[in-house]
Amino acid sequence: MVLRDFFIYLSENKLLNSAAQKYGLKMGAQSVVAGTSLPEVVQSIKELNKANISCTVDNLGEFVYEKSEATAAKNNILAVVQAIHDEQLDAHISLKPSQLGLDIDYAFCYENLKEIVELAYQYNIFVNFDMENYERLHSSFELLEELHKEFDNVGTVIQAYFFESEENIEKYKNFRLRIVKGAYKEPENVAYQSKGDIDRNYLKLIEYHLLHGKFTSIATHDHNVINHVKQFVKQHNIPNDKFEFQMLYGFRKEMQLDLAREGYNFCTYLPFGNDWYGYFMRRLAERPQNVALVTKQVFNK
Ligand code: FDA
Repeated sequence: MVLRDFFIYLSENKLLNSAAQKYGLKMGAQSVVAGTSLPEVVQSIKELNKANISCTVDNLGEFVYEKSEATAAKNNILAVVQAIHDEQLDAHISLKPSQLGLDIDYAFCYENLKEIVELAYQYNIFVNFDMENYERLHSSFELLEELHKEFDNVGTVIQAYFFESEENIEKYKNFRLRIVKGAYKEPENVAYQSKGDIDRNYLKLIEYHLLHGKFTSIATHDHNVINHVKQFVKQHNIPNDKFEFQMLYGFRKEMQLDLAREGYNFCTYLPFGNDWYGYFMRRLAERPQNVALVTKQVFNK
């Protein structure tokens, strides 16, 4: 737990984030980040598509407190949407509202999101709003609801560690939802803290959305959860086109390929860009074994 808190603390450090951007993909991050440029990520998508794996593309970015940075992020994401359309890739977009100005000004963020969602809508491309920490949860849901009035190509993430997620899964059952355990450090008054409680709630939310909701993305590297879902869909005759499994780029690669080979819809979350630091630190927080990967990179120089 102490190690997890330490990496979450590092992930939130803006100074280290800026320093990391200057040094390119280092510290082992290249194994979990699919490059820094659009051509690199397009190449990665093409390779995954060949293996029957679709992709959700995250043009990395956080700690955005200047309008100019949010506008640049919007333009980068618009370029990804255009590339998905032009190259006819099997891919959609994942974005973070804070990257598009949520911490600066709600209305400004809304306009940025709208531009992206509108272009994606024209091309029939889905846009997922990643969920960040609790402070941003309700404003992110509000943005989603407002956009959903005009565009149905939007969805979001439900994090199992929040007490209120049980209500939210009901409230947003008509949305395409990605269901995850939750990656941030949250206080005891809003979130479950123990792995047992989080895992229990996770299965409950997945089952609810599989039975009552629109499309479900089960985003986990946990084989116990995956095996449970395989049994559950069989028992309840839930067809394969109602759900998919998702994992992050670079994690459990063999299992990703196996699930696709078994005929399940599979989608890899593909982060790319210079702003890889916070993302990478959260991955280290989740799985201390990933630290071994970093030390190997540092000492093999
Ligand atoms: P967890 O870390 O609980 O591990 C459970 C078990 O699975 C481990 O004990 C081990 O046995 C096995 N395992 C896990 N990783 C392994 C590995 N790499 N190799 C071998 N075995 C492994 N969070 C958030 O707050 N907002 C978001 O928008 C998203 N989005 C998102 C998208 C996608 C595609 C994924 C996969 C995850 C997210 N997350 C997220 C992160 C999520 O909330 C969570 O922090 C991580 O997925 C870690 O939890 P897991 O369910 O993967 O397993």
